[in-house]
Amino acid sequence: MYYSFARRTKNQRRSFVREILDLTQKRSIISFAGGLPDSKLFPAKEIEQEINETLKLGKEIFQYSSAQGVQELREEISKEYIDTEKEEILITSGSQQGLDLICKTFLDKGDEVVVESPTYLAALNLFDMFEVQITGVELTNRGVDTDKLEKIFETKKPKLFYTIPTFQNPTGWSWDIETKEKVAKLARKHGVVIIEDTPYSKLRYSGFESKNFDELLPEFTISLGTFSKTLAPDFRIGWIKAPKELIKILQTMKENSDLQSSRFFQYVAVNLIKNKKLSLHVQSLIEVYRNKRDCMANALKEEFGDDVEFDIPKGGMFFWVKFTGIDSMKLFELSIKKGVAFVPAETFFSEIKSSSYARLNFTSSSCTQIQDGIKRIKEAYEALSSSCLI
Ligand SMILES: Cc1ncc(COP(=O)(O)O)c(C=O)c1O
Repeated sequence: MYYSFARRTKNQRRSFVREILDLTQKRSIISFAGGLPDSKLFPAKEIEQEINETLKLGKEIFQYSSAQGVQELREEISKEYIDTEKEEILITSGSQQGLDLICKTFLDKGDEVVVESPTYLAALNLFDMFEVQITGVELTNRGVDTDKLEKIFETKKPKLFYTIPTFQNPTGWSWDIETKEKVAKLARKHGVVIIEDTPYSKLRYSGFESKNFDELLPEFTISLGTFSKTLAPDFRIGWIKAPKELIKILQTMKENSDLQSSRFFQYVAVNLIKNKKLSLHVQSLIEVYRNKRDCMANALKEEFGDDVEFDIPKGGMFFWVKFTGIDSMKLFELSIKKGVAFVPAETFFSEIKSSSYARLNFTSSSCTQIQDGIKRIKEAYEALSSSCLI
């Protein structure tokens, strides 16, 4: 059978992370590959209680409802931002849908989009679907190189700049306030809309939050948020925070996409927020994840010594590790044979290039698994270093 598929289906990148996740589910592999929360910590008892409470609202809860989302939930989310009203919040089916709706609203074929390099793979795949030109601007552990960004803004005249400024995926790095301020000025000058994706910002283990783009440049910033990392991905509840006139058109895009997100689960989320069960849960996540982070940092130092370079992430879910002198894809291929997975860096760049960096997730494994997994990567590293495969 010959199917005449749309062009956008053809230029999809290999979903490497998905392939690794499938592989790790089939075999008993220690996985540092996904961006997954620890499923053992999902607050099942609290969710059950609030499901029972929500059922008391009656059958009407299961009827079609507004695409903008449950008013009480939008109110609760708006309190997280400075001077923000519920009319500036649109509930989405995860922040991934938020990004999709933004693309549908702004992008035509051939438009220019700027991303951090490296960046979140699913965002790159999504931008590809809209047949746009993607330019990566080099990311450091303080933010992007603003001189390079300015040149790109001047020459390419992009519509959107997509950034994950806090505990970035894949690097775990956070921008400093000076860089944010410079970029906010550049975006205003060149009329570029900033998409600020913040799925990890509530998972802070040390340090202090600096102002976000939505405070520095509210009229040009669209912020994305989600409960996937703090509550559970399966709720599929995220949100967009943007100026009201943008929310109106984004809402129309959402209606065209899926009519609405589940009202029932939005009410469950509202109840979890109102009775403080969610904030208590996040506090306990922070304690557990901080220990796991320290466990991975110690294991890396003990096993590798000077053969690796990394910053200890102040939050989020990832280490960005440089394995000195080797190609991380080759290290990955050998590590998988030894029963441990991670994501080599080359998957996170808009242009494919080999690299000695890799992303290691520390939240979904136990400390024992982390120690065991890092040991196995070290064995693979030694085998590679002593052969001529480098
Ligand atoms: C940077 C980034 N944005 C968005 C998402 C998707 O989150 P959601 O489950 O809310 O769609 C993820 C998930 O890993 C992510 O890392």
